[in-house]
Amino acid sequence: MSMENFNIGYHCTGKQCELGRGGKVAMRWIGTDFERRDYTFDDLNRTTNQFANALAGLGVRRGEVLFTFLPKSPEQFVAFLGSLKAECITGTLFSNFGEDALIDRIGASEACLLVTRKSLYRKIEKVRDRLPALRMVILTDIQEDLSTDVLSWSRLMAGASPDFAVPVTDPETPSVLHYTSGSTGKPKGVLHRHRSLVKQTQTARDILGLRDDDIYWCTADQGWVTGTSYGIIGPWSLGITQVHFGGGYDARNWMELIEREKVSVWYTAPTALRMLLREEASLYGEFNLKELRHICSVGEPLNPEVITWGREVLGKDIFDTWFQTETGAIMISNRPGLAIRPGSMGIPYGDVKAGVIADDGTELGVGAQGNLCLRSGWESMFITYLKNESAYQSKFRNGWYMTGDMAWRDEDGYYWFLGRSDDVINTSGHLVSPFEVESALLELPEVAESGVIAAPDELLFEKVVAFVQLHAGFEYTPELELKMRIHVANRLSSVATPQEIFQVEALPKNKSGKIMRRVLKARYLGEEMGDISTLEERQ
Ligand code: PRX
Repeated sequence: MSMENFNIGYHCTGKQCELGRGGKVAMRWIGTDFERRDYTFDDLNRTTNQFANALAGLGVRRGEVLFTFLPKSPEQFVAFLGSLKAECITGTLFSNFGEDALIDRIGASEACLLVTRKSLYRKIEKVRDRLPALRMVILTDIQEDLSTDVLSWSRLMAGASPDFAVPVTDPETPSVLHYTSGSTGKPKGVLHRHRSLVKQTQTARDILGLRDDDIYWCTADQGWVTGTSYGIIGPWSLGITQVHFGGGYDARNWMELIEREKVSVWYTAPTALRMLLREEASLYGEFNLKELRHICSVGEPLNPEVITWGREVLGKDIFDTWFQTETGAIMISNRPGLAIRPGSMGIPYGDVKAGVIADDGTELGVGAQGNLCLRSGWESMFITYLKNESAYQSKFRNGWYMTGDMAWRDEDGYYWFLGRSDDVINTSGHLVSPFEVESALLELPEVAESGVIAAPDELLFEKVVAFVQLHAGFEYTPELELKMRIHVANRLSSVATPQEIFQVEALPKNKSGKIMRRVLKARYLGEEMGDISTLEERQ
């Protein structure tokens, strides 16, 4: 057996120090007020060691699950890597999540510990009696412990040693847990292993094109897989300096940040790029972006107009990349040295083998539209859906992993995205489950039935559209509509909040009583419905 250490926490910190990068800036933290703070690899190594020691002191054992529930912040990175050093399973919860979203993740995974801050802890307090496995909460912004199980980050860290012997971690050891939404049922916990590091490092080098002297900025929130695979693991395992910005979208601030920090590689998303495209082109002339060498995009289809805009206004190519929470790392992409075909996601990376498969399982040839599949066995492949092995098994057919996307391949092996094969909504790169939104709406006493679909949107790629049928005696008013929106935001997240809500007299259902989202969608789009009997069967 190889004695090589696959520990992600070690590769991102201690190993970089051993390679002589201890004094190099690992993270330039830029707060919402634009105040900067630098953390060297040595700082990152010591603080993550302290966190690993603090976990041991609290009795948290290897294999136990813990989460951060924080906006982008330095403590989030430290907790993530520190818990991986201790061989815990670690997840990052999007700070906008509401009560149901939290219960479906913290509760379902039986997480024992959560790192959050005072303002967000209020949401947890409301549901804590439904999280019996949650033994401790650490708050990053209190000086003294609030109680025996609500603890102060700074007190814990001050009492923890900066020396920690990272175990020699086997590549199959579970590592990161991200929940992802499907079109039915509760969100599924996508479990990764330390071996994912191999693909994350390779792709950060070959696709993001990272070199030792780069300054890299990944705009994704750490609550999603891009934010961990490419906002933490890939770049730091290569010893790259990352800029992390705590503020939100603002075209001028973003350009200023790229200019001032001399960002050379930038990983962002189509919705953000489309927002930038809507700004006056003259804005970009005000900034010196000459250090910016490489721009990549992920999460939604990158429209050719954005690529043209990038060339004309920024004077740069924008490289589309494709992956999923389940794949852990980029699988299909454009990359340096490969001609971009605007509108195509690019070609499979390295030993990744992709295919287009018909519904009956046969592999299709050039030009044919079908299910985008991957041959299982890539290093960053997820190991299971936590506590839901049957859902994991159902994703595989004849040695192929079914991605749930539809695509076609051209004669040169470039893949072209067509859409999802299920009802999952992709709104500005975030997957939203229509089922979860429908369930949240049904919790309201006024709502008798609800159906939720994805509708095309110029900015967000897709938007969440809800159809509701009210119980007799209730009136559809603007106040009720607002109540529905706030309810979904509180239960799930602002990302899942319907952009449009329509009242209907009845919802189309199939014989077994299931709501036919396809019919709703066709109605919304004003399309002919065609043969409803086959639609019924497909539901
Ligand atoms: O439908 C595809 C879309 O996002 C899905 C994966 O979402 P998630 O698991 O949340 O991971 C997001 C971070 C990669 C895919 O199944 N998607 C992702 N990248 C692209 C894309 N759709 C079109 N083009 C892309 N480049």
